[in-house]
Amino acid sequence: MSRVILSPQHPLSAGLTSDSRLVRAYRGERSDTTPVWFMRQAGRSLPEYRDLRVGTRMLDACLDPEMASEITLQPVRRHKVDAGIFFSDIVVPLKLVGVDVEIQPGRGPVFGRAYADAAGVAELTKVDPARLDEASGPISEAVARTIAELNETAPRGRVSTSSTSSGVSTGSTTGGATPLIGFAGAPFTLAAYLAEGGPSKDHLAARTLMHADAGAWRALMDWTAELSGRFLRAQVLAGASAAQLFDSWAGALSLEDYERHVAPASAKALSFVHDLEYEATDAAGTAVTRHVPVVHFGVGTGELLGAMEGVGVDTVGVDYRVPLDVAAQRVGAGVPLQGNLDPALLAAPWHVLEAAVREVLRRGEVAPAHVFNLGHGVPPETDPTVLTRVVELVHEAGA
Ligand code: CP3
Repeated sequence: MSRVILSPQHPLSAGLTSDSRLVRAYRGERSDTTPVWFMRQAGRSLPEYRDLRVGTRMLDACLDPEMASEITLQPVRRHKVDAGIFFSDIVVPLKLVGVDVEIQPGRGPVFGRAYADAAGVAELTKVDPARLDEASGPISEAVARTIAELNETAPRGRVSTSSTSSGVSTGSTTGGATPLIGFAGAPFTLAAYLAEGGPSKDHLAARTLMHADAGAWRALMDWTAELSGRFLRAQVLAGASAAQLFDSWAGALSLEDYERHVAPASAKALSFVHDLEYEATDAAGTAVTRHVPVVHFGVGTGELLGAMEGVGVDTVGVDYRVPLDVAAQRVGAGVPLQGNLDPALLAAPWHVLEAAVREVLRRGEVAPAHVFNLGHGVPPETDPTVLTRVVELVHEAGA
């Protein structure tokens, strides 16, 4: 594959995020302390989010660059997390190429119809995924606005590679910016919604189609892979410093089905960012070329962790069901891990939560590097002051 060098203004190329705690962890290096961010850190747990969203539908908010950028930045300002995650949704690229989809509050993505058979898949895949490139202006603009503020007002989280200081340096290190993580839905998770026409518990329609009509299934997976891949690429080109592929519902699959019917499509989605590189200087002062780090996460994927790593990623995200030291054995030596505090514990008394955070950090020590996160998204009822306290604890205890 021919390589593409990111523009000199990109935060990775400009050296603003390439030595941040997050990006270093994603390439397997430890820093002054353990980086932390939360899946769904932007959203209903924040009163400033609920205020801003009044009267605006979810997908309209995602496609308003000013609003999407502001929502992305809210948890970074409030919690001092080590990364922003771009405020968007896995169905945004579908919406942008004209698929009839909305997000119903409390329910999730709902489509105008289900795409559960060959005729449905043929109808859906008539649209060329390359159309996303012309339609993704609001995404690129929102990312650009976001990194402009991250570069300007958040010089933190960067650790000089020659520094041996063990001080926890939130806000005190110089020259760096907080990285933005771009994301996309993996082909299976998108297919789980598309085949059903909306949310489901066991994703039966997708699992049936996979076996009932292998040709239609492959067409659906190829198409969603390209769409998600282009969505991810647009975010990275516009300034995201890492990319996360969410295969939230892959845990519904057997290992064999995952490897045969799903993993190749996830690899294809990631191929849209694998060629993106930047030039940097390593700790010894030698010029090196690096790729944009990629994270892969799913829920209930304990049986699949090795195969999910095998898709070709830098870091594996682990849900709360498998302790990190066990996950480390499943993904193999040398793979950084992200996770995996049970979100339910955010509502527990502080001493219980604190012990659980320390336990996650302790188990994460077996990996070459660890990015602290939850085992799934922040519950909407979460007290945001608890999240801020968890960030402080991770930065202090993870040093
Ligand atoms: O802070 C972040 O993590 C970034 C934003 C983000 C959203 N969706 C915003 C959102 C991310 C990374 C996603 C990805 C996403 N969307 C996934 C994969 C991650 C996961 O949670 O497993 C999935 C499965 C979806 C589909 C989806 N969209 C669901 C299940 C829901 C929740 C429905 C509900 O109301 O409970 C959504 C809507 C959604 N996406 C919200 C947010 C903040 C809630 C919308 C609201 O505020 O009304």
